[in-house]
Amino acid sequence: MRILLIAALSLAALPSFAQAPAKPGRLGLCAACHGETGHASMPGVPNLAGQQLDYLRNALQQYRDGRRNVAVMRTAIGPLNDAELDALARWYSVQVPQAQVRR
Ligand code: HEC
Repeated sequence: MRILLIAALSLAALPSFAQAPAKPGRLGLCAACHGETGHASMPGVPNLAGQQLDYLRNALQQYRDGRRNVAVMRTAIGPLNDAELDALARWYSVQVPQAQVRR
């Protein structure tokens, strides 16, 4: 019983990193194409929901430094700093992928 109580108390004391991240302030810059939850809303745009965090971070770095030279993405992330990009990568990586909606 005491062990259960200790376990319950330590779970309740877990810091906030165990929770999903808050919606990033800059999500609006991405949602038109990638959706708020990383489900693309237009043809030719990749879904991001549930993608590996390090992959998303790398991809964004590559658009930024031109290794991926895609105008639409370079423009989209142009005004963002590293912390903002990181928040967006985290947000999309924790979204739960849904089945494709065929149009
Ligand atoms: C105008 C539409 C548009 C907007 C706005 C946009 N994207 Fe994209 N994004 C794309 C397209 C198209 C691609 C595929 C580009 C390619 O071929 O590399 C892409 C690719 C990506 C990828 C790489 C996915 C992969 O599987 O390699 C990431 C990550 C990404 N976008 C994140 C973002 C973030 C974060 C934002 C907001 C700051 C954003 N995008 C805004 C259209 C958009």
